[in-house]
Amino acid sequence: MTADQNAVGKDQKAGDITWRDGDVPYSPHFGDIYFNPKDGLAETRYVFLEGNNLPNAWQHRENFAIGETGFGTGLNFLAAWQCWDSDANRSKRLHFVSVEKYPLTRNDMIRAHQSWPELSQYSKKLADIWPHETMLPGVHRFSLADGAISLTLLIGDAIECWSGYDGKIDCWFLDGFAPSRNPEMWHPDLFAALASASCPTGASLATYTAARIARDGLESAGFEINKRKGFGYKRDMITATLSAFEEADNKPPAFEIADDPWFNLPTPGNSKSVAIIGGGLAGASCADALNARGCFVTLFEKADQLANAASGNPIGMLEPYLTVDDAIMGRFYEAGYRFSHRKIKRLADQGQVEADFCGVIDLATSARKRERLDGLIARLGDKTDLVEALDANQASERFGLALPFGGVFYPSAGWVNPPSVVQAFASGIDIHLSRTITCIRDCDKGKCLTDENG
Ligand SMILES: C[S@@+](CC[C@H](N)C(=O)[O-])C[C@H]1O[C@@H](n2cnc3c(N)ncnc32)[C@H](O)[C@@H]1O
Repeated sequence: MTADQNAVGKDQKAGDITWRDGDVPYSPHFGDIYFNPKDGLAETRYVFLEGNNLPNAWQHRENFAIGETGFGTGLNFLAAWQCWDSDANRSKRLHFVSVEKYPLTRNDMIRAHQSWPELSQYSKKLADIWPHETMLPGVHRFSLADGAISLTLLIGDAIECWSGYDGKIDCWFLDGFAPSRNPEMWHPDLFAALASASCPTGASLATYTAARIARDGLESAGFEINKRKGFGYKRDMITATLSAFEEADNKPPAFEIADDPWFNLPTPGNSKSVAIIGGGLAGASCADALNARGCFVTLFEKADQLANAASGNPIGMLEPYLTVDDAIMGRFYEAGYRFSHRKIKRLADQGQVEADFCGVIDLATSARKRERLDGLIARLGDKTDLVEALDANQASERFGLALPFGGVFYPSAGWVNPPSVVQAFASGIDIHLSRTITCIRDCDKGKCLTDENG
């Protein structure tokens, strides 16, 4: 126990932590520790991996999805990643989706990871992608292991996030502070949400507790409960299974559907074969994303080369489009920028894409622009990796040019060569150049495309 354990001041917020036993985070708000200080890693392996029959359950699968409540320090994720990585028969892709209401800062996470030197290879990679700034509520997607692992963090309340989740989870790590310390989370609505976000072919679940609130809640949501010996001195823990079920046709949409056609998502079919028309940035990035999800993609381009139109510009700016208000759109653009930046930076580091993240300045060239940029700084000024206010002198000094205006500097932004991005995204895709598609119609096989030669 360290002295700072007792540093619980009046201004303590729900997400604040102190430290116990050196590097074990403790939540004064919940009155609970994040992991077992004696052997947190062994407990994770026993409870969540063994409890879900991992690694067997993911073997020889294309995709396998793990869902979790309470990402915390990421210990469960790191243990799953290590186990997956060392399994020759692992699934082609691993999706790890976790909710977290109070995300740890990067420094706190790095400190907590000191407890498991044997995971350092993985924790270092997690720290590399973990944002330096506070993570905003919403969805954050990270790509690891050369795209074979996708880590999706739903920042928000577990019940809300899992109720709105539109996906299919194969196995659940039901974590979170102890039911007696955090009864709001262990609520019937959570168990119902987990059941409806489960894979219709069935799902498994494991949790370290055997508390009645968990057993009853899971049972009412349709899970079949098994008790097994708990880890270490703990008497019992729970594993559970959800049998295959038919998906309800009338499942409410995860978000409100507007009249705009792009919000009306078609019901996904079973086909893994996808045709894409157009070999610019949009087509190539869709091809890359679908390919990463195991689809067989055929791309048609009417020109005799990819990136023939606007995507053929030699230079494109990669900079965030930020909004003055904290609206959904602004969060979406910010998350989208960070995702694209991480992806393109990785490709640039591998020498596949030409880019230079030299920073970009948005100059306050008019009173209106000044007002907008001031608004951005007022809202986002503490995210110094994203925005920095520069006056005319500072801007002139930074760029080595006499600039008449100051503005907002985006330090992580820069230029990219779009054709190299298109080539990188399209590598490994079945590409047909000089093919103009003139008609798409329904046929026995799904959709049939016709080109100008019939
Ligand atoms: C025991 S700790 C995390 C354990 C984690 N798997 C680890 O290894 O660090 C529980 C986590 O659940 C989060 N949490 C608690 N209540 C929550 C809720 N209602 N919604 C989302 N996350 C919650 C806490 O912030 C905390 O990070």
